[in-house]
Amino acid sequence: MPAITATAPGKIILCGEHAVVYGQPAIAVPVSQVKARAIISAQPNQTRGRINIQAPDIGLMTNLEDLPINHPLAVAVKLVLGATEIDKPPALTLRVTSTIPIASGLGSGAAVSVATMRALSEFLGKPLADETVSALTFEVEKLYHGTPSGIDNSVITYEKPIYFVKDRAEARGELQTIRVCMPFRFVIGDTGIASPTAAAVGDVRKSWQADRSLFQGYFESTGEIVDRARQVLEAGEPAALGELMDENQEILEKIGVSCPELEQLIRAARLAGAYGAKLSGGGRGGNMIALVSKETESQVASALKEAGATQILYSTVANLN
Ligand code: PMV
Repeated sequence: MPAITATAPGKIILCGEHAVVYGQPAIAVPVSQVKARAIISAQPNQTRGRINIQAPDIGLMTNLEDLPINHPLAVAVKLVLGATEIDKPPALTLRVTSTIPIASGLGSGAAVSVATMRALSEFLGKPLADETVSALTFEVEKLYHGTPSGIDNSVITYEKPIYFVKDRAEARGELQTIRVCMPFRFVIGDTGIASPTAAAVGDVRKSWQADRSLFQGYFESTGEIVDRARQVLEAGEPAALGELMDENQEILEKIGVSCPELEQLIRAARLAGAYGAKLSGGGRGGNMIALVSKETESQVASALKEAGATQILYSTVANLN
């Protein structure tokens, strides 16, 4: 039997992170330049039920039964076995690799889960529907993010720009995709600082508990920014979107999830001619994004490198067919 391969992209959040955990909308888009990849190959000489797991990027080479019970790969595999009602699959090797930087707001964990679930369910002859892949990936995300909104699993499963409201999309079984009337180009700069989302999300929760009305105000203002951002994306107005990104960054600074390294890159991007710039994802490190034109793209990328970005990625949000 030939090996089965599945991939899943990274993602960025254009606006609305953190507030989305409290019921406000957010906009996220896939970053297809980086991918998680899962390859399943049959091991016909091994006993049925044996699942060998290899993740060379993190030095992992083991069998499923030897992984800690709550390891994300173990959980992803078991969720697929449960959903496909296959107790003892034919012996197999699952090999996972990824070019998505980890713990940096680009959704690497969700992408690994999505790729794994797709490859494994197809190998078992029972490919899971997108809704199931997204919902099961959400279960894995909960282990690591505590109270995830569900935006990562959604944008990464569907690989489309989305306008996302927690609970609503999943409950209705539908996803609001965004249609743009011109391409929007983003340059993504990595601070090189690993920043687990759960810690930032947990700290925001503590601050919200300490002053609910202040934080509710920040979240609602963010929601308004996101709604306006959707309109200007659909109307093709990059200058207006840049201003909204700057406004969102101001709020993210107030809620305590920015950091000097992110702000240095954001300043550099703006000075080099970006329409706007902000952190993307959990914050406190990880990546920032800058909205650019074709003309300013390379100068913004160079300015980011000079300001200390450890990696530059690109993403263009273009029309869907
Ligand atoms: O995975 P990250 O770092 O992009 O964070 C996701 C965005 C948050 O709003 C901070 C958390 C969430 O679950 O929505």
